[in-house]
Amino acid sequence: MITAQMNERLTRVGPGTPCGELMRRYWIPFLPFAQLLENPVRKVRILGEDLVVYRDRSGTLGLIGDRCLHRLVDMQFGIPDECGLRCPYHGWLYDETGACTDRPMEAATRFSGKMKAYPVQELGGLVFAYMGPSPAPALPRWDLFVWPNAIRQIAVNTIDCNWLQCQENTGDPTHSAWAHGHLFKYVLEREGRLEERTASENHTIHTRMNWAKGIKDLYAKQTRYGMEKGVIYSKELGADSDRVDRHSTVIFPFYTQTGKTGSPRSEYQIRVPIDDTHTLHICYQTYAAPPGIEAPRQDVIPWYEPPMWDEKGQPILDFVLAQDAIVWVAQGPITDRTQETLGRTDIPIVLLRRQLDEQIGRVERGEAPMNVFEGESPEIIFGSGQEPEGWNQPDWAERQIVLTQSFRKLYHKGLAVDDADRYGPALDIVKDLHRRIDEAEISARTSA
Ligand code: FES
Ligand SMILES: [Fe+2]
Repeated sequence: MITAQMNERLTRVGPGTPCGELMRRYWIPFLPFAQLLENPVRKVRILGEDLVVYRDRSGTLGLIGDRCLHRLVDMQFGIPDECGLRCPYHGWLYDETGACTDRPMEAATRFSGKMKAYPVQELGGLVFAYMGPSPAPALPRWDLFVWPNAIRQIAVNTIDCNWLQCQENTGDPTHSAWAHGHLFKYVLEREGRLEERTASENHTIHTRMNWAKGIKDLYAKQTRYGMEKGVIYSKELGADSDRVDRHSTVIFPFYTQTGKTGSPRSEYQIRVPIDDTHTLHICYQTYAAPPGIEAPRQDVIPWYEPPMWDEKGQPILDFVLAQDAIVWVAQGPITDRTQETLGRTDIPIVLLRRQLDEQIGRVERGEAPMNVFEGESPEIIFGSGQEPEGWNQPDWAERQIVLTQSFRKLYHKGLAVDDADRYGPALDIVKDLHRRIDEAEISARTSA
């Protein structure tokens, strides 16, 4: 439980709010670049601000206010020019700094008006905005955006609740047993598809339900870029063994990584605040090929929107992302944390909130918060704080690295149906890649 003031402090993201000011210190991913190839002018809402992003005819990206300075026409209907975006009404032209550089029928009068504009950059098929004070820091090259020899696809959804509910899910390793285990099972039972869908021992349901057995405690600690957390199991309490399971990597402020970098399937889940009560959820999915196997080249990283609701308006609940999304929305537009009852399993969430509060405090004191990089970004930044072991070694197949360490490598055997990936445009080439990885491992094992 936290106070009402603290709840406001951690959740509101508009200009001038404590969390909003923190968010404005980061490069914020807000659009798959591929969407600009389909339509070069798009309206977007980021941190409660209505903006228009465009790609002009020379390829420059701009992110400007959504209203023409003349008579306030919505610039989402604008016309891309050689350098900038023209208003569709009388042709006023704006460049990526927001400067009005041409007023076709007002040549006789001088004008030096400027509208709101923010720097934008593209990395790994995503468009990022920086909405904070100048100068903009470096756009961090987090590992999944730049890891070589991989297939990628980007899933985007608008979730109708505050961003922090989605991000708190990251500090919640135990929800898997229920939201992705028992709930999943219940949904399939009601649909009469339980046997058919979960026949494979690789199905998520089997492993997830096991995660609930024998939990003794949770742990969480701050790391260089975010947080590490996991579950401590006890044999005495019913677990298979006494052990500690580390869970997904957290990169402050809004990234979570599932799957190891360089593995056949890893993903950033990025929770971008659209405004106080809407979140852009981005699943940035990478399917890496180990050395000796070549992933097919992608000229454009494709995007998709996994459906969350059926034609009757009922939630779709038979894949992992949709199960997460429904429980986030079901906590309310901005969950009232003064009313909650936390348990031991919420230890990482308490740390996550404390870390957020501390970083907001840094900005309030005029200091740079964590994960703001001056100058150039390193070529690659490993969010876990260390280079992943084994994945990039030439003897991966002999060492059975993929076989033993990958959570999801068997998409060619039907595993993709568990999650949003099943709707992804790159799925067929991923299945082919996984089949080739599987074959290489089998042949290494049989020749060993
Ligand atoms: S309203 Fe935009 S140019 Fe007139
Ligand atoms: Fe989940």
